[in-house]
Amino acid sequence: MIPRHVGFIMDGNGRWATSRGLPRSAGYKAGQEAMERVAKRAAELGVEAVTVYAYSTENTARPEAETAAILSVVCDWNDNYRGDMRVTYMGNVDLLGERVAKSVRTVEERTAENTGMRFNIALGYGGREDIINAAKACCKAGDLSREGFESRLSSAHLPPLDLIVRSGGEKRLSGFMLYEAAYAELIFTDKLWPDFYESDVDAALSEFAARTRKFGK
Ligand code: IPE
Ligand code: IPE
Ligand code: MG
Repeated sequence: MIPRHVGFIMDGNGRWATSRGLPRSAGYKAGQEAMERVAKRAAELGVEAVTVYAYSTENTARPEAETAAILSVVCDWNDNYRGDMRVTYMGNVDLLGERVAKSVRTVEERTAENTGMRFNIALGYGGREDIINAAKACCKAGDLSREGFESRLSSAHLPPLDLIVRSGGEKRLSGFMLYEAAYAELIFTDKLWPDFYESDVDAALSEFAARTRKFGK
């Protein structure tokens, strides 16, 4: 069985660069290439949606040179993407500066009518903030139903999250899709994100296919 929606926590870019004597910024560039490979392979395998964790709310606390390097890679990707995926973002993109916000709006608009896989990028995103925002919107609308809440999460346009894959060796979610993760299968790999290739996507999907999902039943 192919997961409908896979989340990738793209961790380990900095360590990949440092271990090669390169600046951390080189890790983000290599990470972007891995992201492209992974998205392409997931689409080929029939995954409907991929969400990648590119920049967390907490990542804003990193040194300015590093956040600038990450966001510059993101803007370059947005400006140059010409493929067939439907690109969306989730997170508080407006807090990341006008240049970032503009490039995000542009790629979303340019790809809105595409028919390929949904490709959702979590940027300036935190699962706790997303839950709080949805809860506030529910209160405002006077709608406290589960459906109403879920429709106000920023993942509402995507299929249910079936699988989360985290590279880089850490075994935690670091705020990634906390509500949506409830019954997602989890795969943690020591591989650093820039070392993630098509074969790693294949391996993760095979592992997913071999899992028994019970949903409490
Ligand atoms: C994860 O890579 C991506 C972002 C946080 C943008 P890291 O920068 O956390 O890489 P490591 O974990 O330090 O190796
Ligand atoms: C998680 O990685 C966020 C992204 C991959 C964008 P971090 O490197 O920020 O997570 P922690 O600090 O190890 O939990
Ligand atoms: Mg990290």
